[in-house]
Amino acid sequence: MSDLAALENETLAAIGAASDEAALESVRVGALGKKGAISALLATLGKLPPDERKAHGAAINALKDQVTEALAARRGILKKAALEAQLKREMVDVTLPVRLPAVETGRIHPLSQAMDEIITIFADMGFSVAEGPDIESDDYNFTKLNFPPGHPARDMHDTFFLEPDAHGERKVLRTHTSPVQVRTMLSQKPPIRIICPGRTYRTDFDQTHTPMFHQVEGLVVDESATLANLKWVLEEFCKAFFEVPRVGMRFRPSFFPFTSPSMEVDIQCRRSGGEIRFGEGDDWLEILGCGMVHPNVLTNCGIDPEVYQGFAWGMGADRVAMLKYGLPDLRDFFDADLRWINHYGFKPLEVPTLAGGLSG
Ligand code: DAH
Repeated sequence: MSDLAALENETLAAIGAASDEAALESVRVGALGKKGAISALLATLGKLPPDERKAHGAAINALKDQVTEALAARRGILKKAALEAQLKREMVDVTLPVRLPAVETGRIHPLSQAMDEIITIFADMGFSVAEGPDIESDDYNFTKLNFPPGHPARDMHDTFFLEPDAHGERKVLRTHTSPVQVRTMLSQKPPIRIICPGRTYRTDFDQTHTPMFHQVEGLVVDESATLANLKWVLEEFCKAFFEVPRVGMRFRPSFFPFTSPSMEVDIQCRRSGGEIRFGEGDDWLEILGCGMVHPNVLTNCGIDPEVYQGFAWGMGADRVAMLKYGLPDLRDFFDADLRWINHYGFKPLEVPTLAGGLSG
């Protein structure tokens, strides 16, 4: 086989084997480029005797034309294949359901919903929101709230203690939101009207207790706050929160070191067939503790109990959310199970308002 025939076979085979346009281009450069095999042959023509030059030149040019044609044909095939692959890759099935934006598919946790509802109701009554840290001093969590060191009431709180710091001070994870009362009274002058929603911690774990849970504290201090005002505020809150025209409430005498007198509050409900109704029935469920702020607490926080008096309450936020939304197990709140949140969660744009209805 002549050299020319071998080059022809070899080049055409390479063209046939090129699997994409880049590979094809390198075959073209190898044959027809400046330093390509066919170009090199053409360059040798000048050195041939004139009688051979013509025949040889014609043969090389024929090969060149043949290769050029084969390249064009192969390029056409590869382009078509590439286009088909792209079309297939980018195919849109217009019959598929539309993918909803996050704002439609995301869900607000029932506890966040309940917290927003609670804040909305108290804001409407003129309360502002106060906050404090989760890691609290023993002084604010206990001592200033009239739990002297060694007082047995401290044992009622299953406290998480932190390691003592360099000064030997042992901080705690706050066991209630009441230390925010202390912080507020130390930093503001009466009249005071605040609520403090927030995380609280106790070493407890069962169907209705988790080591981290939530409370909403309330505090009013002025010259004339009374127990009657406290009862009105709580009753109005319960009617608004549970979205019923009337609620049965029971104020039971109780004990907290930071209030005197102290009470625990139950609300009336009826539970039947997995449903719960408020304002009727024979069941009573405890939702909060409350009372008149103890004069010692006012004194500890720099407020003169001869001039000022106050009332306060602390409500279990998780508990009222469980009650209102029929959630049987508190532990589910913190399991981050998407099936649960999709079932019990709220639509993000349905923000609770008093005018528009709290829970949509
Ligand atoms: N801090 C109490 C608790 O966690 C709840 C409480 C009761 C708060 C009475 C108050 C109150 O402000 O007045 O058990």
